[in-house]
Amino acid sequence: MAADNRTFNAWACTAKDKPLTKMQLELREWSEDCVELDVTHCGICGSDVHTMDSGWGPTEYPCVVGHEIVGVVKKTGKNVTNVKVGDRAGVGAQCSSCHKCQNCQEGNENLCMNGFVGTYNGRWETNDKTFGGYADRWRGDYRFVFKVPDNMSSAIASTFFCAGVTTYAPLKRTNVNSSSVVGVMGLGGLGHYAVKWAKAMGAKVVGMSHNDKKRDVALELGCDEYLNTSDKEAFGAYQRQMTHILCTGTSQDFDWMTYLKLITVNGHFINVSMPEWNFPEISPFVFFSSQVYISGSAIGSPAEIEDMLEFAASHKVEPWIQTYKMDDVVKAIEDFRAGKPRFRIVLEN
Ligand SMILES: NC(=O)c1ccc[n+]([C@@H]2O[C@H](COP(=O)([O-])OP(=O)(O)OC[C@H]3O[C@@H](n4cnc5c(N)ncnc54)[C@H](OP(=O)(O)O)[C@@H]3O)[C@@H](O)[C@H]2O)c1
Ligand SMILES: [Zn+2]
Ligand SMILES: [Zn+2]
Repeated sequence: MAADNRTFNAWACTAKDKPLTKMQLELREWSEDCVELDVTHCGICGSDVHTMDSGWGPTEYPCVVGHEIVGVVKKTGKNVTNVKVGDRAGVGAQCSSCHKCQNCQEGNENLCMNGFVGTYNGRWETNDKTFGGYADRWRGDYRFVFKVPDNMSSAIASTFFCAGVTTYAPLKRTNVNSSSVVGVMGLGGLGHYAVKWAKAMGAKVVGMSHNDKKRDVALELGCDEYLNTSDKEAFGAYQRQMTHILCTGTSQDFDWMTYLKLITVNGHFINVSMPEWNFPEISPFVFFSSQVYISGSAIGSPAEIEDMLEFAASHKVEPWIQTYKMDDVVKAIEDFRAGKPRFRIVLEN
């Protein structure tokens, strides 16, 4: 094999509170399980910002975030079976797992018990750092790389690999259908996808946002109704009306009772948000009086990603995206922090 050129260009985060800077770093060591992509697109996820800020704990800088990656396959190892050179392919928030533990064996690789590896701020089995998609190249394990459907643009496709699957998987798993009423808390990148999925599954959807700014756009997006969660009187009309609440974002004054009271008997409260603070303690009386299933969900397994791509194609589900040039990433992050995206920013090389 010719000398392995591992150098790539990235917009890296070098410290908390510092803007991203362009620098050269090294890709992971090559292996026959590897796929190498020329990155064309990468979405901006809330988790990118938590990680840049060391919001969940110390980040190992320099860190290259971005886990809604799409690119063109440039190189494949001998073991790669699912994509070939020239294909467009995507990667989400997970780039490796142990493939041996019970959860992996049962197709729940996203809950791997021995080695969930994040697409950034993680370590490959080689001990190389994992680097994400705010970059011009990406290299990693084919088992977490997916072929982009031919009829889907790469910009649109990128956002499916995190925001898309994180919201699709729990709604599908809890059988959202035409008799469901789904409340979506937080209308950001994940939340807007949840609205799209729940509508495509036949449900009535209530968009729940923390002020009135998104009322018009939420209805345009497909919400049947809108609940401004800072207006406590508005909750009255929804007591025991929702079969599901999917929480993608909330404020620190969240209280369990207010939200669980909106859910029907045996309904679901599913949290996918990952704030930098803890949810408040739950009083035993919350359990006593709700009879609601409280759960969470972590991105999605490779099988769920494939299933989602098929569902999106057959139900014509498309995210609302705004593209920025990769070189304008500093401005894009500023706009993301200001809550400006309607609804997902995609960086383009
Ligand atoms: N579980 C998983 O696997 C997984 C995967 C991806 C991301 N995540 C997490 O999910 C969360 C959302 O990610 P995202 O990319 O959708 O981010 P986003 O586009 O910024 O959307 C988050 C939404 O949460 C609401 N929100 C945020 N801060 C708030 C505050 N202080 N008070 C009230 N509402 C607030 C806002 O909705 P409104 O303005 O409409 O109220 C905002 O649009 C992040 O914490 C991210 O880390 C989890
Ligand atoms: Zn994400
Ligand atoms: Zn495992």
